Amino acid sequence: MRVIIYTGKGGVGKTSVAAATALRSAALGHRTVVISTDAAHSLSDSLEVPLSGTLQRIAKNLDGLEIDIQLELETRWKEIQSYFSDFLASQGMDGVSAKEMAVFPGMELMSALFHVEEFHKSKKYDVVVMDTAPTADTLRLLAFPDIANWYFDHLFHMVKNVLKIARVTVGRIVSTPLPSDKFLEDLEQLRERLRYVRDLLTDPEVTSVRLVVNPEKMVISETQRAYTYLCMYGYTVESIVINRVMSEDITDPFFAEKLEEQRKHLKSIDEMFSPLKTFRAGLMPREVLGKAALERLAEELFGKDDPTKAYSLESPMRIESGDGENTLAVKLPFVMDQKLELYTRKDVLVLQLGAFKKSIILPYALAGKELLGADMDGTWLTIRFEGEEIGRKKGKGSRGRKEARKAP
Ligand SMILES: Nc1ncnc2c1ncn2[C@@H]1O[C@H](COP(=O)(O)OP(=O)(O)O)[C@@H](O)[C@H]1O
Ligand SMILES: [Mg+2]
Repeated sequence: MRVIIYTGKGGVGKTSVAAATALRSAALGHRTVVISTDAAHSLSDSLEVPLSGTLQRIAKNLDGLEIDIQLELETRWKEIQSYFSDFLASQGMDGVSAKEMAVFPGMELMSALFHVEEFHKSKKYDVVVMDTAPTADTLRLLAFPDIANWYFDHLFHMVKNVLKIARVTVGRIVSTPLPSDKFLEDLEQLRERLRYVRDLLTDPEVTSVRLVVNPEKMVISETQRAYTYLCMYGYTVESIVINRVMSEDITDPFFAEKLEEQRKHLKSIDEMFSPLKTFRAGLMPREVLGKAALERLAEELFGKDDPTKAYSLESPMRIESGDGENTLAVKLPFVMDQKLELYTRKDVLVLQLGAFKKSIILPYALAGKELLGADMDGTWLTIRFEGEEIGRKKGKGSRGRKEARKAP
């Protein structure tokens, strides 16, 4: 299964490009589903087809889904939400507020990811196209499996403490509801499932992230930052889509300056994002609405190509073990004035860049090894760890051999 995620600033054309990709994919015979994770859904308007929180047929080989948080809560999150609302009510919160508060930010994000996981397990689709919310929300969505891991560890701890206290004082405090077995099972299952999605999303053969931009300064700046963080979270940013490019044939003097500006931005996009594969579409005379218009957009973007192909398989993280030293290289394009900090804690490497933090669970070869230092070389951050004996353990000949593999 292929997962194609379109991300970018608000209004650049993510929904239109995602819908165009999905239509083309289905026309090529791939069983395709397009999912909108933007709470302000516009996929249905773009395709001019009614969509909902459950799968709807759009065309031959094509289904669509707009995540409906209310529905997700009533189905997927029932047990967890009911425990937390009981818990909050027991702490003195009134019933209605407790119910409201038991909706965690992130539940709708997780729901979208779980749909992807279910599609993968059921083998129902060959291609999943994701139309996402503007950059900041999407970064939160994509960082979620990582953050959730941390969160679950703490939640488990908390719940276990509730159980411990309850056991000691049984019969005396009854005001705090005890989590049911079902709740604990759900929590454990959640964690497992998030691991599964994270593996899918960080496998370049499966998932490609595509950046959608317009030739405008503010759009480009936001996209550069997104690119950095996406790499940090282990996503393969595989291509860039330049949308709404004005035709050079426009001769009206009013647009002369605009065109000049555009030329400059196109050049800088090219310099900044090369060697990423580039797709391009012109500014259309009217809004891109309905299947026919979206098919024209697909034609402009992809020509006769299959847009579901993986145009790059470069993982933004790799481990190399060489002579007396092991390194973990993380691709971090456009790191400029953000402060970068890193430290290890047992088998976890924490990387903090600006406001974003990423915990990397180190592979055995690096876990527990001393952090020697780090260097930034172009777009790659190379983190050096103390050398070790795996070369020796592996037997003769393997020592000193450069070995690159994908980071888990
Ligand atoms: N190449 C294009 N030419 C003209 N209008 C476009 C083009 N791409 C998108 N649009 C229009 O721009 C608006 C925003 O596009 P949309 O795909 O909803 O962006 P996003 O999902 O990034 O917010 C829509 O009205 C859409 O029809
Ligand atoms: Mg949109």
